[in-house]
Amino acid sequence: MAMDRLDQSLAIAIKGYAWLPDLRRRHQGRPVALRLLGRRAIAIGGPAAARFFYDAANVERHDAIPGPVLDTLFGRGAVHTLDGRQHDLRKALFTALLMGDGVETLAKLVGVSFDEAADRWRGAGEISLFDETAVVISDAVTLWCGVRENERDRNALARDMISMIDGFATAGPRHARARLARRRREHRLAELMEEVRREDPSPCALSAIAHHMADGYLLDARTAAVELINIIRPATAMTWLVAFAAHAMELRPETRAKIADSDEYAAAFVHEVRRFYPFAPFLAGRAARDLYFQHTDIPRGTELLLDVYGQHHDPRVWPEPYEFRPERFLRRPIGEFELIPQGGGDPRTGHRCPGEQITIAVLGTLVQRLARLEYYLPPQDLSIDITRIPARVRSGPRIVVP
Ligand code: HEM
Repeated sequence: MAMDRLDQSLAIAIKGYAWLPDLRRRHQGRPVALRLLGRRAIAIGGPAAARFFYDAANVERHDAIPGPVLDTLFGRGAVHTLDGRQHDLRKALFTALLMGDGVETLAKLVGVSFDEAADRWRGAGEISLFDETAVVISDAVTLWCGVRENERDRNALARDMISMIDGFATAGPRHARARLARRRREHRLAELMEEVRREDPSPCALSAIAHHMADGYLLDARTAAVELINIIRPATAMTWLVAFAAHAMELRPETRAKIADSDEYAAAFVHEVRRFYPFAPFLAGRAARDLYFQHTDIPRGTELLLDVYGQHHDPRVWPEPYEFRPERFLRRPIGEFELIPQGGGDPRTGHRCPGEQITIAVLGTLVQRLARLEYYLPPQDLSIDITRIPARVRSGPRIVVP
């Protein structure tokens, strides 16, 4: 088996999204053994690897996610860290909330929130599309969840959600901000959970999580808060993809009219944004037993890294992967393990993101609104630094709505 002996933590810090794809290319795409944060790991990638990774008999999640990532991005005790029956019970809560009729309702609320914001942007000079979109989405999703906050708090809530994501993969001030944001929000929402438990259950996400029972027990209020944040935070994370969508429309202006005119093209454009731009770099799990994959022994307990960004830029899966071409998704079924920005396999039974339908619906709504909005980008730095995780368009981008 290919082996890279040095601990790779520093290499990630320097190379960012290019780290794992580079390493795997140097080993001809075979599984690569490495060390990460002192742990033994094996990196794999490609649709067959995604299928293997999403077989729950092969890969477990408890202990797979490093503490600093739990203390910022996901929260202690989150659904992401559960296995087996505990995961099934918790996951059923999320799929019931996120994969039913609520998808269209949330997409409509986000659309209304965007229209109201666009009215404020008109004539207001340069605005940061990133910062504004974060508030547009977090406003709509908190309303949809049944959480009411006054305006000042709503802006602070959006900022905290962004901080948790922005600082999970780095040391220093960004990471400190992320920890603080999580502590503050868990504390506030745990108090809210206690209040809601004194009221009768209602169908919104806040109440459903507050009253959720597993094996006859309620979640402790802090874990309930963690799971409510696991709806509001990733929904607000769609801000990154809206900024990337605006970036793509600016550099490929011919896409704009097609997005505006055709739902089908808008959906293809959204998929291409999710494939092309850097967001989740890789996913981590642990070998649940002694495994064998692509001529490689994987001892039980080994950390497994699934190379998401590498798979989306592999020419064997996506011809000319560095071309941004929404057309590749027109009239074409997408394999369960092929396009994996939100994980692979069945979201109801495995760890695949239960918010993927929401992501596709909300982004479809927002990119069409953006394509139809009259705006321009003043001169600015549109580069994307892929050594920064999560990557961002350097300037935001900033837009002017005349
Ligand atoms: C920017 C868009 C999004 C991206 C890129 C994204 C990505 C992901 C990824 C990579 C995973 C982990 C899969 C795994 O561990 O195997 C995940 C899980 C999850 N996502 Fe998303 N997601 C997005 C939007 C959403 C939304 C909108 C929601 C909720 C409204 C959501 C809720 C969740 C939850 C609860 C999990 C945990 C699932 C589990 O462990 O069973 N995500 N997402």
